Amino acid sequence: MKLIQITDLHVANETEFTHGVDVRQNFLDILQAAKSFAPDLLILSGDLAFDTPEEKVYHWMKQHLDALGLPYTVIGGNHDSSKILAQVFGLEKHLTGDDLYYKLTVNGQPLLLLETSNGTVSKAQLEWLGSELAQLNAPAIIFMHHPPVEGGVPYMDVNYPLRNMAEVQAVMYGHQHPVYVFCGHYHVEKMLCVKNLTVHITPTTYFQMKWQEPAFVLDHLKIGLREIKLRQDGVVESAVVYYEGNKTE
Ligand SMILES: [Fe+2]
Repeated sequence: MKLIQITDLHVANETEFTHGVDVRQNFLDILQAAKSFAPDLLILSGDLAFDTPEEKVYHWMKQHLDALGLPYTVIGGNHDSSKILAQVFGLEKHLTGDDLYYKLTVNGQPLLLLETSNGTVSKAQLEWLGSELAQLNAPAIIFMHHPPVEGGVPYMDVNYPLRNMAEVQAVMYGHQHPVYVFCGHYHVEKMLCVKNLTVHITPTTYFQMKWQEPAFVLDHLKIGLREIKLRQDGVVESAVVYYEGNKTE
């Protein structure tokens, strides 16, 4: 079973200033790269929108995703409206109020997809997550936009963290099996392990940041995706692959 995660696409409308990065071409290129892996599912883990959600941009993305011929799904990031995402991508049945969180079963493997677009995991969602984990007598695979632990990226940890991460961690630590979380939001590649929890932060298709710096410092404009293999022998294998990014000038 193979999954491809792409994240923080930050696709702009055609007239928007994108700091010299051709985010639309980057998105089209990463889709072709994703297709070459022939995954069972492609997951877009939030920040589809450049800055503010635009239905028109989501429709443009959907048109290209549909043309790819791969099964795919989306969750929201802090630059998205999950409600509009759900409407555009036909996921309304997974909406709880304005929150888009749900379980998908792919080839018998449950995947839990969380909502963190307002920077928290709601109380209702935490209860849902707890009950899903309690029913799951196996390792859990979770996708969410924000990392549920501090990423060791001072600029992000200070300014844009998941605000109720202690509550989220408590639910995840309660699982009697490993919990693998795949997220984005930080514009870096990192892995963090604590107790039964392994958190993979996946690089974006916009820009990557220097994670060591206290202030924002651009690292490079390569774009990345993450391949995740859930192997028959129980190994969860994961690797990031980088590609050249596109510039507008
Ligand atoms: Fe984000």
